[in-house]
Amino acid sequence: MKQPTSIPRATDKLGVLMPGLGAVATTTIAGVMLARRGLAEPIGSLTQCATIRLGKRTDNNTPYLKDYLPLASLDQLVFGGWDIFPENAYESAAHAEVLESRHLDPIKDELSQVKAMKGAFNPEYVKRLNGTHVKEAKNKAELVEQLREDIRNFKKDNGLERVVAVWCGSTEIYVEPTEVHQSIEAFEKGLQANDPGISNSQLYGWACIQEGVPYANGSPNLSIEFPAAMALAKQKGVPLCGSDFKTGQTLMKTILAPGFKARMLGVQGWFSTNILGNRDGEVLDDPASFKTKEVSKLGALDHIFQPKTYPQLYGELYHKVRINYYPPRGDAKEGWDNIDIFGWLGYPMQIKVDFLCRDSILAAPIVLDLALFMDLAQRAGFSGIQEWLSFYFKSPMHAPELYPEHDLFIQHTKLKNTLRWMMGDETISHLGHEYYD
Ligand SMILES: NC(=O)c1ccc[n+]([C@@H]2O[C@H](COP(=O)([O-])OP(=O)(O)OC[C@H]3O[C@@H](n4cnc5c(N)ncnc54)[C@H](O)[C@@H]3O)[C@@H](O)[C@H]2O)c1
Repeated sequence: MKQPTSIPRATDKLGVLMPGLGAVATTTIAGVMLARRGLAEPIGSLTQCATIRLGKRTDNNTPYLKDYLPLASLDQLVFGGWDIFPENAYESAAHAEVLESRHLDPIKDELSQVKAMKGAFNPEYVKRLNGTHVKEAKNKAELVEQLREDIRNFKKDNGLERVVAVWCGSTEIYVEPTEVHQSIEAFEKGLQANDPGISNSQLYGWACIQEGVPYANGSPNLSIEFPAAMALAKQKGVPLCGSDFKTGQTLMKTILAPGFKARMLGVQGWFSTNILGNRDGEVLDDPASFKTKEVSKLGALDHIFQPKTYPQLYGELYHKVRINYYPPRGDAKEGWDNIDIFGWLGYPMQIKVDFLCRDSILAAPIVLDLALFMDLAQRAGFSGIQEWLSFYFKSPMHAPELYPEHDLFIQHTKLKNTLRWMMGDETISHLGHEYYD
């Protein structure tokens, strides 16, 4: 990444396209509409709520990120998206039952204007859904062409110069990268030949990159996390980031685990189980989709604890993750963690966490921040993997020769230092010796 000399201001409107207009996407859109009318607060969003310290602690210079950075404002955002069901964003939000009518009623007309474009959908990648609002095409290459046309039309119809995309579609079955994912040419051929390794979310990722649209992957799907997509993104000057929004239980894990590790406390076992009843839960009830989620959820602890470096503390860690579909709960998930830790002389202790969270309420500010930061990244001239956005993901994308950074606090420092560096300000090391000279 090259340090930008200056970043152009966000003078025009910004399009935000979301494949998958379900619970997360509609909670995001509704929240932005409410916030810009002053009817609710965008809590949880760094771009809207956080400040950043510049210079020394004695300088008293801590502007809000939204004042410091040339970000698009909430008033400049124009939303669109695709889904395999024809509901508009209002109907879909009502169906998801995340937001109450006191929040949906005041914006009903505006939200109803966000209509789902037909989805690119081969049903074998999401077994629990029978989409009816889907594109017809002779092969996957043609589906990509149709998605590209949708993007161009969305820009034209709304008078947009810039668009970003955040995948908010369902979790697909577990797909590993194959030969077809290794180069641009192989992938293009695979699209023509309907290669089974190319899933629906990859079609969206490819179409976005081809159209110069930054793409963030909010699911654990293999969507853009392969060499062909990286190469195309570099060629087209497109920033990419993923994967899988870090919301409920994994957010807690990446807050707690760095604390245990910092205190050199051992961990023998970490059992995590969830009940949830939304459409995401229904999709994850299929073992093939759950496998994709499980792989994404299991990675964090291993990287934070470094069992090879600390075998006496974490070498025997037994980590288990369960997701149970339980319809009565809807989006109001409950996540339990039982953590078996040990301390001085090996004496055991237990910690129980019972997090009654709301998945989409935690995910929505992430979608908003990613949209604004990815647009900023593109104006700053960045392309390819945006590792500084790891803060938002369960499985952060990283250069092949690096291990991913999962510790939330390191991720947070990295995010803010990248912003300082991007703006030509000094990064902060927290050394602070000069205060005592
Ligand atoms: N809610 C969270 O906290 C959270 C956290 C991390 C990741 N995620 C991920 O975000 C995604 C969205 O979650 P959600 O709770 O909004 O789920 P949801 O089921 O409410 O919404 C997903 C939508 O995607 C649509 N869809 C599926 N395949 C599609 C395709 N090929 N094209 C267009 N639309 C398609 C579905 O019809 C559905 O409306 C999931 O992949 C989920 O795993 C969510």
